Amino acid sequence: MKSKVLRITQLGEPVLRKVSKPVRLPLSKAQNRLIDDMIVTMKKAKGVGIAAPQVGLGLRLFIVAPEPSIRYPKAPRMAPVAMINPVLVKHSKKMVTDWEGCLSIPGLRGRVPRYQSIEIEFTARDGRRLREKLSGFVARIFQHEFDHINGHVYIDRVQDTRTFMTEPEFRKMMS
Ligand code: NI
Repeated sequence: MKSKVLRITQLGEPVLRKVSKPVRLPLSKAQNRLIDDMIVTMKKAKGVGIAAPQVGLGLRLFIVAPEPSIRYPKAPRMAPVAMINPVLVKHSKKMVTDWEGCLSIPGLRGRVPRYQSIEIEFTARDGRRLREKLSGFVARIFQHEFDHINGHVYIDRVQDTRTFMTEPEFRKMMS
């Protein structure tokens, strides 16, 4: 079946503020299709990640997929990875502040502190439980998406709200 573009939930919709529930494994056909649909939806919106609550489902599942785009010109390229029932196992003391945006909060960018490096665990699509170390931009995406499945959004973590920028101003600054 062909993947379809899903509607992205917007800030204010209650699903974005709920703690998501674990995914029952193995994945059902419908859940596998959902993952494909989330990837297509994310790519169409030029995102580098998307979490299940952003397509209206309170499930502990998200996609991490950095790729350079008009929204993130400096992103590294990585094939989309579905992370199911992810856990943040360890993190560095060091935090790094950098720009983030969110498909559920269109038109806005803010500076968010995140752990510089993290150790995570998640179940992959094929059912294997994996443990990985992430750092830099990919670690940032993980933390952003991990927040989504716990009912948080990046603007909750912006320390200096005077750094907020509109998307057009952000693009001007980055080019
Ligand atoms: Ni987001």
